[in-house]
Amino acid sequence: MYMVKCEEKYWPFVLKLRNKFKKSFFSQSIITNEEHEKFMRKWSDSYFICIADDETTLLGWVGVVNGDIRIAVPCEFQNQGIGKFMLEYIKVAFPEATAQIFSSNHASINAFNSVGIKNEIV
Ligand SMILES: CC(C)(COP(=O)(O)OP(=O)(O)OC[C@H]1O[C@@H](n2cnc3c(N)ncnc32)[C@H](O)[C@@H]1OP(=O)(O)O)[C@@H](O)C(=O)NCCC(=O)NCCS
Repeated sequence: MYMVKCEEKYWPFVLKLRNKFKKSFFSQSIITNEEHEKFMRKWSDSYFICIADDETTLLGWVGVVNGDIRIAVPCEFQNQGIGKFMLEYIKVAFPEATAQIFSSNHASINAFNSVGIKNEIV
């Protein structure tokens, strides 16, 4: 697997997962296409997509907004090390970035702790 920049063609993938996992993120409402497009126009330079070696399958995304890391992996690919792979990447690209994580989100807490990224449990 490898990481690429979050070009516009990947924006729907980011939105789909964001809304699927909305309860894991701080603004827990459904984000509309229009809101998402506006958001991505501003922040897509600090979002990245993880792609499988088949060069087609999208395995997840990670992004940084104002120093705060957001990440998502589709259910069918979870618990295979993809989250950690993306966090290792973001740790190099944004060494100062941290995360706020809900105390109920054990997968996320484990992933951030495993790669040694500072996180605040809320
Ligand atoms: C958080 C998330 C990105 C982790 O991605 P992932 O690819 O499944 O994570 P990894 O396979 O790299 O595993 C990371 C660690 O979490 C552990 N883990 C994975 N799924 C777990 C689960 N359901 N419960 C507890 N621990 C879990 C792994 O064992 C691993 O721990 P280890 O390093 O001690 O072995 C993924 O679960 C996800 O997309 N969740 C929904 C969105 C979300 O919560 N985003 C974060 C908001 S801050």
